[in-house]
Amino acid sequence: MSVELVATELSILFVCLGNICRSPAAHAIMQTKVAQAHLACSVMIDSAGTATYHTGSAPDKRMQQVCAEYRYNLSHLQARQVDVSDFYRFDYIFAMDESNLQDLQVERPDNATARIGLLLHVGEIPQANQFHYQVPDPYYGGTNGFVTVIRLLETATDILIDKLRNNQPLI
Ligand code: 4NP
Repeated sequence: MSVELVATELSILFVCLGNICRSPAAHAIMQTKVAQAHLACSVMIDSAGTATYHTGSAPDKRMQQVCAEYRYNLSHLQARQVDVSDFYRFDYIFAMDESNLQDLQVERPDNATARIGLLLHVGEIPQANQFHYQVPDPYYGGTNGFVTVIRLLETATDILIDKLRNNQPLI
């Protein structure tokens, strides 16, 4: 019988603006894939927003509904704002778009330990180019926008899982 040793715990924070649409979806999708890959004991996942508008709220109902159709459950999540401690607590912080990334870079303390980048830069994502490597904000649009977000996130998180399996750096 072979015994697989669990790697040192690794932590990932997904960040968008409100933490009610894109980053909670990324959080739930990655959580599901991590569990399916039997990596749940070694990877910690969370999400947060750069803004405070929705602090304490559940994910947007439209995102919850579309995610449920893809068998991802978001109902347990609650929005919070990025905290300065996140820059030390997490190994990786993935921004959904350039504006989120800019906000994070402004907030980032000089001695922060987290590595920060755009989620759609994690690897080869065929549709990413058309979205300028940003997960488009679905908040003011229709259902199609939520589906687009989920598809981009599924591809990006598959790449993250592959990297985790191969002990490769995520950024
Ligand atoms: P998220 O989407 O950043 O993906 O959570 C948004 C949620 C709320 C607002 C904008 C984007 N808002 O303007 O309230």
